[in-house]
Amino acid sequence: MKVIEIKKFGGPEELEIKDVKIGKPGPKEVLIKNLSIGLNYIDVYHRTGLYPIPLPSGIGLEACGVIEEVGSEVNLFKIGDRVSHASMPIGAYSEKQIMPQEKLISVPDGISNEVASCIVLKGMTAEYLLHRSYIAKKGDKVLFHAAAGGVGQILCQWANSIGCEVIGTVGSKEKEEIAKKNGCHYVINYTEKNFVEEVEKLFGKNAVDVVYDGVGQKTFEGSIECLKIRGMMVAFGNASGYVNTIDVKKHINTKGLFFTRPSIAHYTVTRKELEDSAKKVFDAVISKKIKIDISKKYTLDQAKNAHEDLEARKLIGPAVIIPN
Ligand SMILES: NC(=O)c1ccc[n+]([C@@H]2O[C@H](COP(=O)([O-])OP(=O)(O)OC[C@H]3O[C@@H](n4cnc5c(N)ncnc54)[C@H](OP(=O)(O)O)[C@@H]3O)[C@@H](O)[C@H]2O)c1
Repeated sequence: MKVIEIKKFGGPEELEIKDVKIGKPGPKEVLIKNLSIGLNYIDVYHRTGLYPIPLPSGIGLEACGVIEEVGSEVNLFKIGDRVSHASMPIGAYSEKQIMPQEKLISVPDGISNEVASCIVLKGMTAEYLLHRSYIAKKGDKVLFHAAAGGVGQILCQWANSIGCEVIGTVGSKEKEEIAKKNGCHYVINYTEKNFVEEVEKLFGKNAVDVVYDGVGQKTFEGSIECLKIRGMMVAFGNASGYVNTIDVKKHINTKGLFFTRPSIAHYTVTRKELEDSAKKVFDAVISKKIKIDISKKYTLDQAKNAHEDLEARKLIGPAVIIPN
């Protein structure tokens, strides 16, 4: 079977396509034939080594596929089941993979393979950010950076459906329209305008209830500035670089802010948390609270191009890799 592998950390050119033999699933594992694979910014962090992984390694954390073989003690799934996953072990950029059964989610009818391969990691992230890291309520002013991105499109639609006032930042003119279509009441092009000043023009100083910041270094200081007294800073990503240090006096104490740096793994610790989160996402898609538009499809041997596009900010919303 074909798989994408990296031997050393580096640029998109490190993504190599290889033919390998896949083994047999262990007692509590299943062998999945991947039908569609999700592309995520975390794949870039793994490839560059920002999030170090043992090498050589496969890459990719999100896919939808069909179970072809089950281990002797598998009791949650059977051959032929359609499943998705959004977690380690790493290696979703592949035609087939072996996964532990407890990491898998059944995909309901009414959700296509492609959609199922891009709403598990991104959708469950939007779910825990909006409903559990900070519980967004009707009337809350929510600031989301990179609102036309993969997580952004899902979270902004969802926040809008709750009744939040959604402010989205985007990096290009084309993305402004996309962010509006995806639930943002106000859109700021932060490559052209200072987003702190723009938020102040809309709501005054210190007005935002929560900032969901997946951009990191470039937006961190401004995000803190926009928050109201006792507001909540949810720093959940680093597309522009990792925020390594926080000055408690300057960043937190001045306004008595709450700060969290969560990861999806912290919110899908138990099987019940995983199943509940996935169900909320699938229900939101089936009930059309969230609409998913796949922006681009790649083949496995185009993984390098996919990463180039992702890092060049060319992708608008969820993209997938179709393995064969
Ligand atoms: N903590 C978690 O549990 C968790 C889970 C999933 C994702 N995430 C994080 O959420 C964020 C979004 O993930 P995603 O997969 O949906 O990606 P994405 O939003 O589709 O792509 C990243 C976006 O970040 C923006 N960006 C700003 N500065 C950038 C820079 N210097 N280089 C590249 N991009 C830059 C770009 O949008 P503009 O052009 O509009 O600025 C770009 O499209 C990422 O930071 C990711 O790591 C975190």
